[in-house]
Amino acid sequence: MKALVLCGGHGTRLRPITHTSAKQLVPIANKPVLYYGLEALRDAGIEDVGIIVGDTAAEVRRAVGDGSGFGLRVTYIEQEAPLGLAHAVLIARDYLGDDDFVMYLGDNFLVDGLTEVVDRFRATRPDVQIMLTPVADPSQFGVAELDADGRLVRVEEKPRSPRSDLAIMGIYLFTPVVHEAVRSIKPDPRGELEITTAIEWLLEHDARITSHIVHGYWKDTGRVEDMLECNRLVLEDLETRVEGHVDERTDVVGRVVVEEGARISGSRLVGPLIIGADAVIKDSYVGPFTSIGPDCLLADTEVEFSIVMERSSVLGVRRLRDSLIGKDVAIKPASVTSTAHQLVLGDHSQVRIA
Ligand code: G1P
Repeated sequence: MKALVLCGGHGTRLRPITHTSAKQLVPIANKPVLYYGLEALRDAGIEDVGIIVGDTAAEVRRAVGDGSGFGLRVTYIEQEAPLGLAHAVLIARDYLGDDDFVMYLGDNFLVDGLTEVVDRFRATRPDVQIMLTPVADPSQFGVAELDADGRLVRVEEKPRSPRSDLAIMGIYLFTPVVHEAVRSIKPDPRGELEITTAIEWLLEHDARITSHIVHGYWKDTGRVEDMLECNRLVLEDLETRVEGHVDERTDVVGRVVVEEGARISGSRLVGPLIIGADAVIKDSYVGPFTSIGPDCLLADTEVEFSIVMERSSVLGVRRLRDSLIGKDVAIKPASVTSTAHQLVLGDHSQVRIA
């Protein structure tokens, strides 16, 4: 059994981060969201992974390499444009051969791992197995309708009037019958070949499709609030590990990870939180559910419920909350004589000034 991991897409809802970064590489507790998926696939016994890449191919290749760091064999498959999830299956035909496979969307985040899901598919081997979860806003997703016996009767992509609250999660298990479906369907009005259309085609052609409702935690990390929520969740399971230096003037409350080379002085750390390697935190408060990336500098600052990525500095800001801050960002006070804010922000940046 192989896996097909999708790492294309423009990630428009995570701009400006995704102007320069693949959305699958945004860190959750200082580790790219994609790594959690790759580890879950490996733990489920999968060794061969095809990764579909687009504009951000170079960055994804740098982050994952040949996969050996994860115990995987990774093959990259270039998609010339984000033409849909079924298009990704279409162009991976040679790579997938006649193997069964898990299709995994690289920005999906599943706490319970994939082992049980993959084992169930191997044991029962339906033509297709999909996973469903109740959501508050089904019109943002593929939506499944089940009959009274729990059998799948219909799927629809981002319907205006959803017939249920069951979203189709970005983790699908396929036998090779899917190849005929992706060849047979037509693009949607936006020109994308939707995997939901392929599943609908398979339903109409009497394929055996099983669905499982999952109540464990799942997120499609497409939006800032989803990223922060995943970060919160992963940090909740953190165990204290202090490898950097924390001086005696610093208060530490709750579970914290301070990576090697990090230096904390005169500060208050209230976990769960993680501080990356070689970061410097001076005279600051770092509050719960916060990830500070490697080589960051925080001085005279308060931050909580936030993700700050590598090499960024925050000086004299009280207080940052619910923030997602990219790499190499500098935030500092204006000159003492000025009462004005001065901002240099990239396209699609969002700032809320208190
Ligand atoms: C895609 C699928 C959708 C599915 C979702 C899960 O949507 O088209 O059916 O519910 O992934 O993450 P996208 O996130 O690409 O808009």
